[in-house]
Amino acid sequence: MIAAYSATSQARVNAALETLFNAPSPELARLYEAMRYSVMNGGKRVRPLLAYAACEALGGKAEDANGAACAVELIHAYSLVHDDLPAMDDDDLRRGQPTTHKKFDEACAILAGDGLQSLAFSALLDPRLSTSDAETKLQMVSALALAAGPAGMVGGQAIDLGSVGLKLDQKALEYMHRHKTGALIEVSVKLGALASGRAEKDELKSLQTYAQAIGLAFQVQDDILDVESDTETLGKRQGADIARDKPTYPALLGLDAAKAYALELRDQALHALRPFDAAAEPLRDLARYIVERRS
Ligand code: IPE
Ligand code: IPE
Ligand code: MG
Ligand code: MG
Ligand code: MG
Repeated sequence: MIAAYSATSQARVNAALETLFNAPSPELARLYEAMRYSVMNGGKRVRPLLAYAACEALGGKAEDANGAACAVELIHAYSLVHDDLPAMDDDDLRRGQPTTHKKFDEACAILAGDGLQSLAFSALLDPRLSTSDAETKLQMVSALALAAGPAGMVGGQAIDLGSVGLKLDQKALEYMHRHKTGALIEVSVKLGALASGRAEKDELKSLQTYAQAIGLAFQVQDDILDVESDTETLGKRQGADIARDKPTYPALLGLDAAKAYALELRDQALHALRPFDAAAEPLRDLARYIVERRS
C-alpha cells in the first residue's frame, strides 16, 4: 500500500514543484537551473508524503496540501544543498548524483539554497498550490519559519557542526536531532493538517506527538543507514558520519540499541494515532516505513 501511496504522492508533488523553476529572464537561467537540479533529482519526498497523509487523515483532499508539500520539500532541498557544502559536511554525492556545488560551483550552490528557501514561502502562499484562507496561510508561514529557522533546523545544524569530535550524551544528541531533522518533519505534518481546513486542537496535539516521534526516528535511522547501508543504495556516501566523527545514535548507543530505539519511537508514533480512523492509515504506514527504509 505504501508503494502505491508513495508513487501517487511523489507524482503529485513533483508536478507541483516542476512549475516553480521557470527563470524570469535569461540572466537567471543558471541560478534557476541549479535550484531545479537540487530539487528535481529524485529524493524520497518523505516530508510531502507526510503533509498529504496528515491532510487526508483529517478528511481533507490531498491536493489541498500541495502548497504545504512543495514548501517543506523546498526547505529540505535547500538544507541538503547547504549541508553538503565544503564548509559543512563536504559531500560530493547526493541522491546518486554530484552535489549542487560539484555540478555548478560553491557560490551558485549557496545562492540556489538561499533561493529555494524563499521559494518555499512563496509556494505556501501560491494560490495555484493552496486555497487555504489567509488566516490559515499566516499560521502556516509562521510555523514553517519557526521550524526551518535558528530555533529549528538551522539551530540543529549549528549544534551538529559545533559537536564534531565531541562526545554528546543522549540528551544532547536527542536535542540536536529533534532540531536538525525533527523540526521540519513535525511541521510537515502540521502544515498538512492545517491545509485540510478541519484541524481541531486535540487532533493537532495527537499529530504533533506522532510527528515528534517519527521526526527523531527518521534521523536515528539515517544514522543507522550511514553505518550499515552502502553508497549505491543510499545515493550518498556511506560511512560519512564515522569518517567525520559526527555525533550519531549508533556511535553513542551502539547499532543494536539504536535500532531498538528507532522501533520504540515508531511504536510511540503509532500509539499517538489511536484516536484516528482508517483515513490515518497512510500516516501509520509512513511511521513503519521510516524505520524500515534502506535508503
Ligand atoms: C536526508 O533526508 C537528510 C536528513 C534530514 C536525515 P532524506 O533521507 O529525506 O533525503 P532525500 O530527500 O530522500 O534525498
Ligand atoms: C542533515 O543531516 C540534516 C539537514 C540537512 C538539516 P545529515 O548531514 O545527517 O544528512 P545527510 O546524511 O547528509 O543526508
Ligand atoms: Mg549534516
Ligand atoms: Mg550531511
Ligand atoms: Mg546523515
